[in-house]
Amino acid sequence: MTMMSNTATAVHFYDQQPPVASMSLRDELLQGLRSTPKTASPKFFYDLRGSELFDQICVQPEYYPTRTEEAILRDAADDIANVVGRDATLIELGSGASRKVRLLLEAVRPTRYLGIDISRDFLLDSTRRLAADYPWLEVHAACADFSRRMTMPEGMACDHPVAFFPGSSIGNFTPQEAESFLQGLHSLLPAGSGLLVGVDLVKDNTIINAAYNDVAGVTAAFNLNLLERLRSEFEADLDPKRFSHLAFYNEAQSRIEMHLVSDIIQEIEVAGEVFRFEAGETLHTENSYKYTIEGFQALAGRAGFQARAEWVDDAALFSVHYLER
Ligand code: AVI
Repeated sequence: MTMMSNTATAVHFYDQQPPVASMSLRDELLQGLRSTPKTASPKFFYDLRGSELFDQICVQPEYYPTRTEEAILRDAADDIANVVGRDATLIELGSGASRKVRLLLEAVRPTRYLGIDISRDFLLDSTRRLAADYPWLEVHAACADFSRRMTMPEGMACDHPVAFFPGSSIGNFTPQEAESFLQGLHSLLPAGSGLLVGVDLVKDNTIINAAYNDVAGVTAAFNLNLLERLRSEFEADLDPKRFSHLAFYNEAQSRIEMHLVSDIIQEIEVAGEVFRFEAGETLHTENSYKYTIEGFQALAGRAGFQARAEWVDDAALFSVHYLER
């Protein structure tokens, strides 16, 4: 790990990237393509174009999670400040543009903020802007994969750690993965720490299905962009036009499934390896689990986090939970 302090922008930066990250990504991709049914981790969505498309998804009229969570954070900011308490160190997991945390900063008034994200340039840019906009806040940035086990950056003070994990990104893990992810956070969050997490709720299926099949076709473009990424970064020989977007709510599993469906029998090549698709065969690209309040709190409990408070919008679309380790 390297640490450098940038006095011009007052951001303390820590590089915690594993040196062989790109190599293991390629292995992970090939492993998923070799499996039956074929899978690709949703992390392959997020190249530059994929991140732009995701930002566009968030403002589609059908995609309710972002605007609903933001409204909850805005409306409940004072309540959240009360349960979090003063002088917290707010640690944002997958901080991206650090947009949602801004809804909380004035009310919560943490002593310091640590943004953790895998995308170095994006992280530096957004934390610099945060430091400029909130001069009273001590801003830290760690370039790291938060889904791997993490510890606090060496030398960084951290009195009352409170992790912030918005967006229902926890829903992109299976419930079992979510439980071990929360357990893994113990290395970052000592007993007594807080966790503020956004969780999408089980609801009328038509609302969920529409959110992942927006009329403008942005979610379809986001899903299909994964194939473009395979071409540009993983030496893939394939035609994205021979695949279609498929997203549906699997009620038995309480999850949206996203797939890329092969329109024809075809062979594609990725990193020198050939993969055959039958017509209609899919590459499963994402799960997005939906929870009940009780179901999520029970899962968190099994991972050592006790529910202290939760906030839900009037239409019961989305929830934000404050948990304590
Ligand atoms: C990032 N994640 C919580 C989004 C979701 O809703 O599962 C990703 C997404 N996939 C399609 N639309 C949005």
